[in-house]
Amino acid sequence: MRQKIVAGNWKMNKTLDEGLELIKAVLDKAEKPKGAVVFATPFIHLKDAAKLLKVRRGFHLAAQNCHHEEKGAYTGEVSADMLVSVGAEFVLIGHSERRQYFKETNAQLAQKVNLSLSRNLRPIFCCGEPLAVREEGRHVAYVAKQLKASLFHLSEQQFRQIVLAYEPIWAIGTGRTATSAQTQDMHASIRTLIAKKYGTQVADDTTILYGGSANAQNAVELFSQPDVDGGLIGGASLKPDDFVAIINAL
Ligand code: 13P
Repeated sequence: MRQKIVAGNWKMNKTLDEGLELIKAVLDKAEKPKGAVVFATPFIHLKDAAKLLKVRRGFHLAAQNCHHEEKGAYTGEVSADMLVSVGAEFVLIGHSERRQYFKETNAQLAQKVNLSLSRNLRPIFCCGEPLAVREEGRHVAYVAKQLKASLFHLSEQQFRQIVLAYEPIWAIGTGRTATSAQTQDMHASIRTLIAKKYGTQVADDTTILYGGSANAQNAVELFSQPDVDGGLIGGASLKPDDFVAIINAL
């Protein structure tokens, strides 16, 4: 069964108090979500956020990154074990901002995926093309390469733990959302690719989220596409009313 998810990626926003207020406001306003709701908070919020979320069914916690090594002399970094120890259940891996600003490679992302899975931390694996690639019509091949390079070494059982998020880079934080047709086409291509590697049942069961300027206005149409199973939300996840409206669009 394919799981529907709305995940909020706060990125580097909100102090601890502001973040906890935001979670409380969402918990107050969101009644019975039709899918899972995930908060991807900054690291330092995780432990307190976990306390708020564990009393509410269907609400989950994610980290925005983890290091690709188990532990050791990596000053300033955070390990998968540490994330699990404070209550994270998911971890974002391969966000385009990490690929771009922190030069994370497909090989490192594969290591992060392996490590996370070994700790029962579910990766929300992000993929997506830059504008130039879209304009040249190479977007499907580009995303396929990202997925093959970092995920297709996994066993079927491991792959079933992965949530995918298609986030075209040109749509992130730009107000330029992909159209529902562009989104559906890419999600369908991703599902076909998964079917070729893991079979149609695994492909059918894989959750594929859309991210990139998704908001309270466009979420209903995006989520109504047959291969779109929810969203990974940046800016709009920082405003309780907007985030709840997106949750209600599931
Ligand atoms: P925006 O919703 O702000 O465009 O960000 C999307 C995103 O990067 C979520 O990970």
